[in-house]
Amino acid sequence: RKPVTVPGLLAMKTQGQRIVMLTAYDASFAWQLEMAGIDIALVGDSLGMVVQGHRSTLPVTLDHMVYHTTAVARGLSATLLVADLPFMADRDLAHVLEAGARLVGEAGAAMVKVEGAAPHILEAIAALTVRAIPVCAHLGLTPQSVHKFGGFRIQGREQAAADRVLDEALAVQAAGANLLVLEGVPVELGRRVTAALTIPVIGIGAGPHCDGQVLVIHDMLGITPGKRPKFSKDFLAGRDSVAAAIAAYAEDVRSGAFPAPEHCFN
Ligand code: KIV
Repeated sequence: RKPVTVPGLLAMKTQGQRIVMLTAYDASFAWQLEMAGIDIALVGDSLGMVVQGHRSTLPVTLDHMVYHTTAVARGLSATLLVADLPFMADRDLAHVLEAGARLVGEAGAAMVKVEGAAPHILEAIAALTVRAIPVCAHLGLTPQSVHKFGGFRIQGREQAAADRVLDEALAVQAAGANLLVLEGVPVELGRRVTAALTIPVIGIGAGPHCDGQVLVIHDMLGITPGKRPKFSKDFLAGRDSVAAAIAAYAEDVRSGAFPAPEHCFN
């Protein structure tokens, strides 16, 4: 398999080829993603919830992210590796650049992900990309804003809020972002953002019109403790291996069978 690259992702959008992204937190699961031909592995700070057992992603530190990203990198060869900047790594530009240096230079990520579109985030995107660190932006239901939102709530339901998300998407693209994860928004907003941007938009609970999809691996294997998000699907149900579940997820994203209407918000 040819390595997935940042310019290659742009070409996939242009060619209408859907992009398959999935989280991983260790080398064994990374290898499963690699074997299934997943395009992008995300070391998400969701590891704070599904690996560490916290109620949010906020307790995750840069050291945790570097530890897990290093392990995932050892399990990958062709799959592109993206790692999250953890909560408050954006407190100033020095911390942003330190996080970029460690996640990419030390741990082996090819891209870092940042949440939001506030002025200091746009500045962070520009500072990273000008130093040749590609950036994935993350908008909509950004989990690091859980206290501001009052819970993990769907964003962009009202017209004004939807327009704001679209403006933010255009702003992160203009700042230099190479990819956008759009989480927890109505189908129509997912469609509008994907059509408006030249960079690929990867949806999670953002409807079927995005250029690709991402899920937390524990959700799509049905092993997340407690309630599973409505936008996820248990791909292990009715199958006999993790490999078969990941392969089915990849096939359903590429064919457009996932997400189905029951995984979407209107
Ligand atoms: O942390 C994470 O796993 C994420 C995905 C849910 C997109 O940001």
